[in-house]
Amino acid sequence: MPRYRTLIPATLAIAAALFASGSAMADTLDATGHLEVTGKWTAKTRGQALTPPMGWNSWNAYRTEVDEEKVLGAAQALVDSGLAKLGYNYVNIDDGWWLKRRTSDGRMLIRTQIFPSAKLKGDSSFKPFTDRIHAMGLKAGIYSDMGRNACSQRFDLHSPNLPEGTAAEREVGLYGHVDQDIDLYFRQWGFDYIKVDACGLNYYGPDEPVVKSEGYRAFAPIIDQSAINRTDIPKVRALYQSVSDALAKSNADNDYILSLCNWGTADVRQWGHDVGNMWRTSQDITPEWTRMLHTFDSAATRALYAHPGAWNDPDMLFVGHGDFDENHLTEARSHFSLWAIINAPLIIGYDLRKAPKSLLDIWGNADIIRINQDRGGHQAVLEYMSDDVEIFVKTLSNGDKAVAIFNRGLAPAEVALTAAHLKMTGTIALTDLWSKDTQSFNGETLMKVAPRETLVFEARGARQLAEGLYLSEIPGNIHVAEDGVIVPQPDPMVHRMISPWDSSRGGGSRAAYTGWGGAQADSTPYDQNLQVAGHPFATGIGILAGSRMEVKNDGFTRFETQAGVDDTTQNLKDAVVFQVYGDGRLLTETKSVYGELAKTLSADISGVKVVELVARADNRTSDLPLIVTWGDAALKK
Ligand code: GLA
Repeated sequence: MPRYRTLIPATLAIAAALFASGSAMADTLDATGHLEVTGKWTAKTRGQALTPPMGWNSWNAYRTEVDEEKVLGAAQALVDSGLAKLGYNYVNIDDGWWLKRRTSDGRMLIRTQIFPSAKLKGDSSFKPFTDRIHAMGLKAGIYSDMGRNACSQRFDLHSPNLPEGTAAEREVGLYGHVDQDIDLYFRQWGFDYIKVDACGLNYYGPDEPVVKSEGYRAFAPIIDQSAINRTDIPKVRALYQSVSDALAKSNADNDYILSLCNWGTADVRQWGHDVGNMWRTSQDITPEWTRMLHTFDSAATRALYAHPGAWNDPDMLFVGHGDFDENHLTEARSHFSLWAIINAPLIIGYDLRKAPKSLLDIWGNADIIRINQDRGGHQAVLEYMSDDVEIFVKTLSNGDKAVAIFNRGLAPAEVALTAAHLKMTGTIALTDLWSKDTQSFNGETLMKVAPRETLVFEARGARQLAEGLYLSEIPGNIHVAEDGVIVPQPDPMVHRMISPWDSSRGGGSRAAYTGWGGAQADSTPYDQNLQVAGHPFATGIGILAGSRMEVKNDGFTRFETQAGVDDTTQNLKDAVVFQVYGDGRLLTETKSVYGELAKTLSADISGVKVVELVARADNRTSDLPLIVTWGDAALKK
């Protein structure tokens, strides 16, 4: 378990005392039990998300005004349009489906007025509905909340589809009913996917006006979106873990997906990969350009936290609406391309019964989908960034690359794409995955990128490391088991839009999602270039000391790196020991290093399945982040 200092109010005083007392702090920091090597790939492998989930969800199309005809219409349209064949196979009902919880036995009842096939004598069941979805060759998803009450009961009070009855009957969320509800939804009703929201953990405190006006039972919040110190991280995590456990119990066939929807709170960007198959990294997307930038950024620098079975989720697609409608196809293609290249789940949120061809061509771009669904599961890594232009590069399982060149700004941009961005050499062939045009280049090529445009290419050529792979090329083979972050901090690299809800009232849109200081490919944890003792590294993994990564090895025979304390470290006092393990056995290590040239580590990993990279800083005297670089880290033949 990660060793957070969770500063919920009751522990604030104790924590302050720890910070104040040098020896007490050292004791806490020196508890290195969490760095014990496992010799195994311990990342979550349960559930059906070897590649990012794809499908359709009712929310962005209808909010709570969902009904059976609309959902079945979407399912039919997925089949008829060919989108289902391209992989869009989950059909998910979001908020709005419930009528009440029957208090005699706690069973959830469906609003059969809008889901007529669910009507039974004195009861209700989604089984006829999921049978129909399954008969179409598709899978079915449902929605709940981790607390007692859902989001619509707070934010959609005008809705005709709110839960009804007494306060107890309107407690439709999972809280206190996890095993019962999961058994009902999966084993009895046959669902294959659940999205679990978190409004019930956040918005129903005793002083909330809505609690009084609607007569809800108060729930002392365990999430505070503006203060991680007032968020009970272990409790939020444990609640979601209980859903994960219940799903494993009620799905003997392992055919399910757990989608965590607590909007980047409670440090989920750090632990989501151990609990769910996908986890929201931010608040809700809206059909506005700057809001899309916001949710995209919250996932875009988290490549090392995603891998087959576990994906960063910047929220569902809004293609077809607002700034991404059929009159804004450049923006719509950008939105879709960006989601695809960072391995985001591709969940359509549009009334597909009346979708124009121009939009169907976007969701239906088989080449872009192929990039997203590549079985390697390597989320694209940010290889160039400025506020205007970003270049993301994703390694495909055959060793080729996909590259997205994104112009975030309002002026046309001239962008030099270099062989170094792609970690390739010699003549490189590019295929534009939107226009299908081809070209080739040596060294670098200049591209014109229109405002808000994203060019996406597939690149073929010789890789720089012909006989191996840099670790930064294969984030999907890396599990950051412990990232060394002691005090979770909000990530300032996320675009902060004017809030669609508050406009410019109040003090502004502040950095909100913790994870700052997390492990990064080709960057330090704090968005700097990698450099040790004056020597820059174009590639490597940047992470904090007190960390352990598991790396899958598919047949390589050597691991090599130049490891050292990064020149940007904030902790100027403590030293680090770098260790390389193979299937749990220590293969090589450095002596204690600090402020020196990077040390070469080279290990024979023939036959090894899991390489573990540990950066230990035992006997630390300072709590400040101790930044380390695994420079040029690579698996070689
Ligand atoms: C939250 C979620 C959305 C949607 C709504 C439903 O806002 O983040 O995706 O599920 O609740 O009320």
